[in-house]
Formats: sequence, structure tokens, C-alpha cells
Amino acid sequence: MRHARSFAVTSLFAAALCAACSRSSAPGSTDGGAQARPRYGAVMAEVGRRWELAGRAATANRFELAAFEIGEIEELFTEELARAELPKEGPSAQLPALASAWLSAHPKALEQAADKRDGAAFAAEFARASATCNACHKASDHGFLEIPTVAGLGVPSLDPLPAAAASAKGTTASR
Ligand code: HEC
Repeated sequence: MRHARSFAVTSLFAAALCAACSRSSAPGSTDGGAQARPRYGAVMAEVGRRWELAGRAATANRFELAAFEIGEIEELFTEELARAELPKEGPSAQLPALASAWLSAHPKALEQAADKRDGAAFAAEFARASATCNACHKASDHGFLEIPTVAGLGVPSLDPLPAAAASAKGTTASR
């Protein structure tokens, strides 16, 4: 009994030590660690998740949550996207300018609408901002990433497209 207990304590201690050493090695590692540039697509995936949450929160009158998500998106644009590696597919030279344009045009107005708990103003600005998301996706050959302009829907849009278009494409390809 006594042995069993001291064994358990020892292994707990060892586990704690291990956790501590793997944690402490990460930030100081020489492979770039904290300095590594984020991937554009990974930052965008987080922007998309938070955009969906912001829209859903506002339509549920959860304006503090909506404002929080908009603030997080603002941070993602200024801190992460600004130093992210530009995507290799599609034209990317204009991305930094388009990102700054999005940032200066939309988050402030969304935060103000959320602070006033003004659902109509939030929805109107959400529609304008989503159109600007889409403009950048189109400009960078990612037009298939459609951001719904109506708040509260899934991001990106997965609404079914006409099946005829898909099967016509399939027919052409198999010919
Ligand atoms: C400055 C241009 C630009 C703006 C503005 C922009 N995007 Fe993107 N977005 C991109 C590019 C480029 C990609 C493709 C990244 C890649 O190649 O991995 C992308 C990808 C995405 C993806 C797919 C991520 C994945 O890998 O699954 C989502 C979701 C997305 N964007 C949401 C949004 C939303 C929501 C907004 C507006 C709030 C927005 N984007 C605004 C350029 C932009």
C-alpha cells in the first residue's frame, strides 16, 4: 500500500516534470517557434469561424459576444494576417492593401452597432463587410469561398448549388 502510493506520487511528479520541460522548450526552440509566420489560410479559417459567431450572436441579441468576436477578428487582421505567408495559389500581391481596406472600413462600425445593441445597423454593416470579404476572395481566385451577406448563416456558405451544373461538369470531364 505504502509502496503503491509512493510509486503513484513519483510518477505524478515525473509526469509534471515532463510537462514542464516540454512546455519550456517550445518558446525557446531554435526552429523559429513563436516567430514562425502563420499560414494565410489558417488565419482566414479563424476569421471565418469568428465571423459566423459574430453574425449568429448579433441575431440572437448577444451583442457583447458579437462585439468580442469582431474585436478578435480585428486583432487577427492586424497581428496575424499582416505577417502571414501569402498564399501560393492565385494572385496575392494586392492582398495586403485589400486587407487594410477591409480593416479600416468595417470593424469600428460593427462594434458601434453592437455597443448600441442596434441589430438593424449591425446587419446592414455585416452585409457590406461580407461583400468586401467576397470581393477579396474573388480578386485572389478564391471566389468559391462565399461569405453570406446575411448575419446568422454558416461561414463559408455551403448552400447547395444546382446539381445540373455539377453533373454537366462531370459529363464534360468524362468525355
Ligand atoms: C485581403 C483579402 C481577404 C479578405 C478581406 C478576406 N479574405 Fe478570406 N481568404 C482570403 C484568401 C487569399 C484566402 C485563401 C487562403 C489560402 O489560400 O489558404 C481566404 C480564405 C478564407 C476562408 C477559408 C479558410 C480555410 O482554409 O478553410 C474563409 C472561411 C475566409 N477566408 C473567410 C473570410 C471572411 C469571413 C472574411 C471577411 C470577414 C474574409 N475572409 C476576408 C483573402 C481574404
